[in-house]
Amino acid sequence: MTTPTVLHCQYRPQHHYTADRNWLNDPNGLIYANGTYHLFYQHNPSGNEWGNMSWGHATSADLLHWDEQPVAIVCDEQEAIFSGSAVLDRNNTSGFGTPDNPPLVAIYTSAYSPASPLGGRQAQSLAYSTDDGASWTKYSGNPVADRGSAEFRDPKVFWYDGTAGNYWVMVAVEALDREVVLYKSADLKSWEYLSTFGPANATGGVWECPDLFELPVDDDPGTTKWVLVVNLNPGGIAGGSAGQYFLGTFDGVTFVSESTVTEGLQQDDSRMVEYGWLDWGRDYYAAVSFSNSPDGRRLMIGWMNNWQYGGVTPTSGWRGALTLVREVRLATRAGRVVLMQAAVDPFENGGATIYSEARRPLAAGTHWLPAEASGDVLRIDAEFEPGAAGEVGLLLRAGGAEQTVLAYDSATGVLSLDRTTCGNTDFHESFASVERVTVPLEDGRLRLRIFLDRCSVEVFAQDGAATITDQVFAAESSARLGLFADCDGAELISLAVVR
Ligand code: FRU
Repeated sequence: MTTPTVLHCQYRPQHHYTADRNWLNDPNGLIYANGTYHLFYQHNPSGNEWGNMSWGHATSADLLHWDEQPVAIVCDEQEAIFSGSAVLDRNNTSGFGTPDNPPLVAIYTSAYSPASPLGGRQAQSLAYSTDDGASWTKYSGNPVADRGSAEFRDPKVFWYDGTAGNYWVMVAVEALDREVVLYKSADLKSWEYLSTFGPANATGGVWECPDLFELPVDDDPGTTKWVLVVNLNPGGIAGGSAGQYFLGTFDGVTFVSESTVTEGLQQDDSRMVEYGWLDWGRDYYAAVSFSNSPDGRRLMIGWMNNWQYGGVTPTSGWRGALTLVREVRLATRAGRVVLMQAAVDPFENGGATIYSEARRPLAAGTHWLPAEASGDVLRIDAEFEPGAAGEVGLLLRAGGAEQTVLAYDSATGVLSLDRTTCGNTDFHESFASVERVTVPLEDGRLRLRIFLDRCSVEVFAQDGAATITDQVFAAESSARLGLFADCDGAELISLAVVR
């Protein structure tokens, strides 16, 4: 991580990216090129609230340590620079570079202000860099895709190479219509309409920040599925902003979903738990993937926040963090193909196990870990066999009257994260909440990997088959850890606390 100028201010995470100063929301333009990961993001260069939307920029060699760069694409009096993606134009199809020096091309949404002749519209525009992302030039022919719409945004562009041909594909949204719209192009400058997907599954809010990529199932390159990511706000599974995903096929023209449960805008909320969710917490939004990741890895990152209260989170000098980067795969679990997520682990190199326990019965009651095993920046790996106990789990960030409770109820199979008593919750009426996801035991066991980073808890259950991401604004001194069971009969299989 960079060394921000205001590192020690309250709640500033150590392993999660924050802008050194000022507001941040969606990750944008994620790309690996010439040995460097580039992270751009929705940024207000001059304020701690949403506004003056521009693309901030940071670079990393390992997805863990980020160096903040000068703001890459700056808003002006005519347009705000909304979310989008970036590609390495290897064959210089755009002509912005040379065959020897292919350009990086950013595809972003121009949100036109009243001062522009296109005022009120959202359309897609290009900016390019021929110096590895250090400086960016807006294309003089902008916008390159304009439907006359006020809600056409968040383009994700990738190179399609399949039976239908080879071309660029753009996946964007008509946000209010809950539609993903697809276009194709030979040169990134002129775009031809392909197809529309949606509305489907969760439609309780606008659709934003889509993504579309192919992944092998169970690591078998011969069996693949396409994953269509659709973020929506509000209408997420835990309230407010969230990301959903569909699995299916893409033939170069049309995405066909095999995971549509409900179609159209008439929704039945009782079916929400049947939809594919990227995360079951409150704070994983606008998640999209990196382009060109080495070794075919599919790496995603989200804004660790929620539009319900994202504007008033209690930080000063900076506001908004990104999640850890997550590698996603598709795997068959209990007969169903699901998205598995594993965090790029900040503790993998250099973390020390400060406390561990081997298998033992977990008697009814609360078992506080020794004070040395405390912390607000930790990884915790825990495995339980709930057995006859009704509820088992962990107390996180405990101190005084504060604690965040991660509990598994073996009667219902529900894993819950309760932040109602985490600490500072009263900055917004909808912040205090309990998040829930059904997680089947595997061989009678529940495996948890938990990352604490000052103002957040990220939970990966059953090797990432389900995740819960929540912000928690606890006092720095609320750092104790505990285990609990509500009656005898549970076993702790293993526990490790890594700092
Ligand atoms: C998602 C979003 C995008 C938009 C951007 C503006 O959080 O609303 O749809 O491009 O934020 O900052």
